[in-house]
Amino acid sequence: MISSSSIDIHIADPAVAVGAAADNWLALLDPAERARCDRFKVEGARREYLTGRALVRSTLSRYAAIAPADWRFEANQYGRPAIAPEQAAKAPGLVFNLSHTRGLVALAVGRDCELGLDIEWIDRQSRLAELCTRYFAPDETAHVRAAEGEELTERFFAFWTLGEAYIKARGMGLALPLDGFAYDITHEPPTIRFEPSCPDDPARWRFLRRPVGDRHRLALAVASLEPDIRVRFQWAEALMRGDEGDRGVKDRAGIRIPGEVVLLRGEGRHAS
Ligand SMILES: CC(C)(COP(=O)(O)OP(=O)(O)OC[C@H]1O[C@@H](n2cnc3c(N)ncnc32)[C@H](O)[C@@H]1OP(=O)(O)O)[C@@H](O)C(=O)NCCC(=O)NCCS
Repeated sequence: MISSSSIDIHIADPAVAVGAAADNWLALLDPAERARCDRFKVEGARREYLTGRALVRSTLSRYAAIAPADWRFEANQYGRPAIAPEQAAKAPGLVFNLSHTRGLVALAVGRDCELGLDIEWIDRQSRLAELCTRYFAPDETAHVRAAEGEELTERFFAFWTLGEAYIKARGMGLALPLDGFAYDITHEPPTIRFEPSCPDDPARWRFLRRPVGDRHRLALAVASLEPDIRVRFQWAEALMRGDEGDRGVKDRAGIRIPGEVVLLRGEGRHAS
């Protein structure tokens, strides 16, 4: 079991979801997950989904005595999946959040906290500055537009991943108003401010953002009672080895994940 002062982030490469490995992972899925997998028309999206489901199931089994195929999940009204109540006794307080994007899948696992994770492939398109007003608070938009080139892209994806991480930690999807909160990323770690349309207390949140290789950016949002939280990144080695031998190692050779254990300090006053 994981301690409530730790969060593990497991990262997997969906390129490995082929051949025998994909067949093995499909066998872990429940009928609804398998049906959803079958409905994907785009092969890349299908692999991301399959890798995500296999990552959740096989990884959670490292923290509780439940076999990967036996996990049951229940989604809230906004679609956020959680461990089904009937399995809670075997996995007390265990929480997770999954994120997938082109080329990577990431899973955060913690205990007795609210957590949200987002990973994005950096799309270096030129329209990012225009997209800001649709998704970001005015101060965030101004901060993105004050930059150019690579820095503009970095700022855009910082606000995007942090915004998604918070929305996902709350588990309410886009029912939360996107202009109801605004981040300040001019210092590390980032901080958040809330508007009356999104009542919340900034003091209960801690955030982390990190590059994962050159092409992906990741953000984590956590509300916890713990004073210090250790965040550890790791490749989902066991999952990725599968029947594909070292194929996963080759595919991810160019992607560096953060090597350090990151300490998130905070007051942790009132996690719910
Ligand atoms: C659905 C949403 C939670 C994330 O969607 P997404 O961009 O596809 O993000 P991710 O890949 O990071 O997350 C998907 C996973 O999160 C989980 N999830 C689903 N609904 C969730 C919710 N309400 N809260 C938290 N997690 C949720 C699921 O595990 C899902 O994966 P699965 O369907 O394979 O099981 C939601 O935030 C959304 O629709 N966002 C749209 C984009 C947007 O406008 N963002 C604004 C940026 S500031």
